Amino acid sequence: MLAQLLCQYQDTPGGLLPLLQAIQEDLGYIPGEAVPAIARVMNCSAAEVHGVISFYHDLRTAPGGRHTLQVCRAESCQATGGRELEACARDLLGVDFGNTTADGVITLESVYCLGNCACSPSVRLDNDTYARVDREGLAGLIASLRQGAEDTA
Ligand code: FES
Repeated sequence: MLAQLLCQYQDTPGGLLPLLQAIQEDLGYIPGEAVPAIARVMNCSAAEVHGVISFYHDLRTAPGGRHTLQVCRAESCQATGGRELEACARDLLGVDFGNTTADGVITLESVYCLGNCACSPSVRLDNDTYARVDREGLAGLIASLRQGAEDTA
């Protein structure tokens, strides 16, 4: 599938980011060993590919967890308790942003506005957005994920 995506985007002007997004959509992450081939077909350097991957927070270079928790770190959420929520997420999960818990259940990511500013602070868990999240609410969300992981183990 990677080879097919490389062919699909190789002649697309400005196609590097869409290609990276397509690879992540397909594989769940962008394997480091794919970077040289990506650079070759997009006619750029591997350093440029790495630069784009590191710039966009939602691109990852390792497989993510079964669930993704995104904490909004943009202005409105920051002004309404977002910083405390960030610290809480790190404490409860035991990982920093961009990483996955040791049990492989939850990946913690930053996001810069979920379009839910009027009800900030906000987080997104997989495809669901939660508004006015406080420490207790976040702890409850994380506990439910962990419980669900135990139930399916
Ligand atoms: S700033 Fe957080 S939802 Fe917009």
